Parts: sequence; structure tokens; C-alpha cells
Amino acid sequence: MPPVRLKVLHLEDNEGDHALVTVHLMRGGIQADITRVETEAALIEALAQDWDIILSDYNLPGYSGLAALDKVRSMGKLVPFILVSGEIGEDIAVQAMRNGANDYLLKSNLTRLAPAALLAIEANRTRIAKQRADHALTRSRQQLRELAQHLQTSIEQERAAIAREIHDDVGGALTAVKFDLAWIARHAPNPEIAERVQQALESVGHAHEASQRIMHNLRPAILEQGLVAALQWMADRFGKRTGIETTFRTSHEKMQLAPGVPLVAYRFAQEALTNVSKHAQATRVSVDVSQAGGVLSIEVTDNGRGLSTEDLAKARSFGIRGLHERAETVGGWVDLSSKPGGGTSLILSVPLSGPENGFIDRLLPGLDGDASGIDQDPDDPTAWGNL
Ligand SMILES: Nc1ncnc2c1ncn2[C@@H]1O[C@H](COP(=O)(O)OP(=O)(O)O)[C@@H](O)[C@H]1O
Ligand SMILES: [Mg+2]
Repeated sequence: MPPVRLKVLHLEDNEGDHALVTVHLMRGGIQADITRVETEAALIEALAQDWDIILSDYNLPGYSGLAALDKVRSMGKLVPFILVSGEIGEDIAVQAMRNGANDYLLKSNLTRLAPAALLAIEANRTRIAKQRADHALTRSRQQLRELAQHLQTSIEQERAAIAREIHDDVGGALTAVKFDLAWIARHAPNPEIAERVQQALESVGHAHEASQRIMHNLRPAILEQGLVAALQWMADRFGKRTGIETTFRTSHEKMQLAPGVPLVAYRFAQEALTNVSKHAQATRVSVDVSQAGGVLSIEVTDNGRGLSTEDLAKARSFGIRGLHERAETVGGWVDLSSKPGGGTSLILSVPLSGPENGFIDRLLPGLDGDASGIDQDPDDPTAWGNL
């Protein structure tokens, strides 16, 4: 096997011991480009270069191998470090390993030196690669989380903009058509035309209702009445629409919530209830809103089939995953508890005060509509203010 070339830094005051280490490395198949230093100052200077490994004596005049190890690590150097000493007790060996040494050897038994050095280098390489991979993974997870949060807020912005456009353009046009049709109805030359105009008026009425419904889904104006009223309304409507027995309970009738929180809470309840009707096969569901210990909680519990970890891992299911991201935008979190056949509980918790609560507010400045003007139309999304 060709010799392995290594750049070795040797902290050693004794010339003889240095020669011994050099010989043992060579015998072990290592062609060492070895530099000896004796003092901390020389060590620090040498650390400006890259080394494959540092070998250090334990006992140095006015200095110690452990202090050297501390120095190396405190300078952020991950280079493998082996303590080589004439006398090394178990306690010192343990301390050295704990402080980041890769190995320790006795000068009386240096046959293990070369394999120990190679092993330490290999282990270090693996550790650094793993650290890098872990770091990259953490970073990419963080980026993904930020992207998901950004998407959630963008969706709300986009929804608000579409609602506004429907109100201004579609709503405005429909109102104009209604006026014109009413005029034609009044001036209709014969009953046949009058009847057709009446039919057209009805169609316009349906279109108007549809645009209201779409606007509401895009931007729940009911939130203007406060979160509790909006959730009560949602629960009632859910019960009527699905036939599932729905209970609503709240600890407070009115709540003081930071901007952004009501909309997050509303979307949470919406998704949780949609899941109940879509997946749970439940006969009962309860929505509990409470405010205690400075935390707002909304709990949606059903008595349905429950869900498994595989359900949550479905590649194309983003509902519950999205709720986590959404909750984070206001400093909150989502808990889920479920047993197969034992129903499902989805809980949103949001601390009531905290710097994060202004997050959506800052991201959605356009929603801060000025409702003080002449336009007091309750359906006008620009007048809904900060939900
Ligand atoms: N209340 C529930 N009861 C039973 N299963 C549920 C419930 N909520 C969610 N699930 C299961 O978890 C999966 C993931 O839900 P979700 O993330 O909301 O995505 P989606 O509703 O789009 O499938 C669902 O497909 C369903 O299998
Ligand atoms: Mg869903």
C-alpha cells in the first residue's frame, strides 16, 4: 500500500518524543509532513494553516494538552486532535474526550498511533460531512417553512384582491344592469317583453347572490362581528348543511385579538370542519373556543373514524400541514390527537400577546382599508378593515 501523506502538527517540548512519534507514524504507513511547536503562541500561529491532524503532549512547560485542545476548538477548528502522553490518568482521558479530543495514547505504547490517527481523520471527515448535511437540511427546512408561510399570506392577499375586484367590477356592473332592466320593465311596450325582463332581473339577482357568496368565501366579512360570532355562525351553518350534530362552546363572548389572529383562527376552523365532513364519518362534532392563561385555543373534536400517521403523510394533502404554517404566522401552533375509531381533535393555540401577532398585519398592509369614508357598504371588502 502506498504511504498516506499527512500534514501533522505536533505540540511537543521533547525532541526525543517528537522523533519517536515521527518513527511510529512512518512505520504505520504514514508519510508525515510534520511540524513541531512548543508553545501556545506557536500553536496559534500554526493554526492559520490547515492540518490533517494535531498530536499533542499532555505535559508541556507552562502549558497543557487540554488547554491546547480548548484553544483549538475555541478557534472553531474541527481538525482531529489526539492526546499523546507519558502519564495520562483515566479522568484526564475522559475529560479530553469530552472536550473534543478524538483519541488519547500513551507514549509507552505508540504502535496504535498510525491506525488511531487514520481512524480519527476518517471519523472527523464523516462527522463534518454529517454536520454539513444536517446544517443544509435545517436550512432547507427553514426555507420551506418560510415559503409555506409566505404562500399562506400571499393566498390571503390574493383572495382579498379578488374579492375587491368582484365587488367593484362584477358587483358594480350587476347593479347597473339591474337598474337598466328595471327601467326597461317600467317602459316595456308589451307584457311579453315585461316578462322576459322579469326573468332577466331574476337571473341578475342570482348572479348577485353568487358573487356575494364567492366574496364571502374569499374574505369572510362575518369576521367583522368578531371571531366568536363568526365561529358560532360557521358551526351553525355546518350543522345545518351536513346534518352532523354540532356543538359550539366559548369561554368568552368577546375577545381582544391581535390583527391577523381572527383570520388564522377562522381558516383553521374552516379546514377542521371541512375535514370532518370529508373524512371523519362522524355523527357529532364540537367547536370549543377558550381563552385561558394568555392563550387562545380553538378545539375541533369529532367522534369519527380517527386518522393515522399514514393519513397525515399523504403526498397531496396539504390541509393540516398548511394549518401548522398558518398558525406559525401568528406565533401559534397546532396539535392533533386521534385514535383509529376514536375520533379526532385538532387544536389551535395562539399566545395572545407577542411580537409575532402583528405579522400578518405587516404583511397585508393593503387590507387596512379606510372604512371611515362615505362608502359604508357592508359587502365592500375594502371596508372590512383588518380581520
Ligand atoms: N377529522 C378527520 N377524521 C378522519 N380522518 C381525517 C380527519 N381529518 C383529516 N383526516 C385524514 O387526514 C388526511 C389529511 O388531511 P388534510 O391534510 O386536511 O388533507 P385533505 O383533506 O386535503 O386530504 C385526509 O386525507 C384524511 O385521510
Ligand atoms: Mg383537508
